[in-house]
Amino acid sequence: MMEKTILIRNIRTPFEETIVLKGWLHNIRISGKIAFLILRDGTGYIQCVLSKSAVGDESFEKYTKISQESSIQVYGTIREDKRSPIGFEMDVQKIDIIQQAEDYPISLKEHGVGFLSNIRHLWLRSPKQRALLVIRDLVALKIREFLHNEGFTCIDSPILTGSAAEGTTTLFELDYFGEKAFLSQTGQLYQEAAAMAFGRTYCFGPTFRAEKSKTRRHLTEFWMVEPEIAYCDFEENMAIQERMILFLIHSCLELAGTELKTLERDLSPLTKIKAPFPRVKYEEILQILNQHDRGKQWGDDITGLDETIISNEFEQPVFITHFPVESKAFYMKADPTDPRVVLAADLMAPEGYGEIIGGSQRIDSLEDLLTKMNQYGLKQEDYQWYIDLRRFGSVPHSGYGMGLERFVGWMGGIEHIREAIPFPRTIEKIYP
Ligand code: 4AD
Ligand code: MG
Repeated sequence: MMEKTILIRNIRTPFEETIVLKGWLHNIRISGKIAFLILRDGTGYIQCVLSKSAVGDESFEKYTKISQESSIQVYGTIREDKRSPIGFEMDVQKIDIIQQAEDYPISLKEHGVGFLSNIRHLWLRSPKQRALLVIRDLVALKIREFLHNEGFTCIDSPILTGSAAEGTTTLFELDYFGEKAFLSQTGQLYQEAAAMAFGRTYCFGPTFRAEKSKTRRHLTEFWMVEPEIAYCDFEENMAIQERMILFLIHSCLELAGTELKTLERDLSPLTKIKAPFPRVKYEEILQILNQHDRGKQWGDDITGLDETIISNEFEQPVFITHFPVESKAFYMKADPTDPRVVLAADLMAPEGYGEIIGGSQRIDSLEDLLTKMNQYGLKQEDYQWYIDLRRFGSVPHSGYGMGLERFVGWMGGIEHIREAIPFPRTIEKIYP
């Protein structure tokens, strides 16, 4: 007879008939004539109870020698158990050992991150890593759902590009059949073209920055979602971001309870988040920083440490707005009431997480764009297509980019964003 294969995530009722669970042995504890096996199948964990009286001496002997991470198929019945985290346990009748694993390098005790990073291909199997990447998947899905429901069309930006948009210091350059090309730092410029065709668009994919900085917030390859909106000003741009952030937080709280618990995430700061988020001008931010003896003057950068300070200062995410023109990218529109600053806003997450979104209203006048490109030393011939957008039906438009790993890192309450991406790339890591 063929037993039915059940995924652990789908166990919601007892099974009196024999079923089979297919997975890997996470842990085993032997206590006299009974052994407790924790089986994982990628969709969840379940305790399987093995008793000598049920399987016989010989099988008991064999099954209790199964090593951690061996691949196994476990046959048995499912019974309710109030003490179990999922409410059910399996009574084992038989186990097929698909492969007896060699000595597994990750034991259930704590290991250093350096060691674990070198075996990221195995570390992915650990409960906390699984929880983070399940949250990442959920957030990605909910981003698309939110934007779709707000009337956005996903228009993918290319990854190979000839244009620099976020400064020339963090470009990965490559030889494109004898011509210079780059890995994309942002899909934004292409979204500006797309928004003029579709109204509201976004791209969502990997972006690359040759970041020399070794911080807990920087990857060299990260995923960014970049909405772009035609007929949208600076204020409306922030309102959309606010709605998106709230939707994503509520989705995580509602749908990732198990994973957040696995991560031991304190939920109270997340449940407190509500709109409107404070909007604070760069100028006022300098004053707050100077209360922390940061000695800031007009024009100074907001560094990683500054971000941490600001983000610990507020319980809510906070928009830092009106940055000095020179400190930001060439495409940002100057404030008509104060030309020293641009209509840009960076959203800082609380709890020390720092910047999660960068956004702005874009320059829509041809003349202003050409002047600004000149000042930034950008060659017009490299950007003809982008300049064209100001020639054929230019409109006020705005957009933003949110780093997926930054957001997931915040939700998961983790120290370093490298755990929020399956195979992180940093200045010192391209293996595995
Ligand atoms: O602030 P950034 O550089 O903005 C842009 O790229 C705009 N073109 C976006 C737009 O308006 N369409 O980057 C946006 C976000 C940051 O707020 C951060 O969340 C993330 O991307 N980010 C990084 N995440 C991980 N590692 C890095 N090195 C990152 N650099 C930026
Ligand atoms: Mg930024």
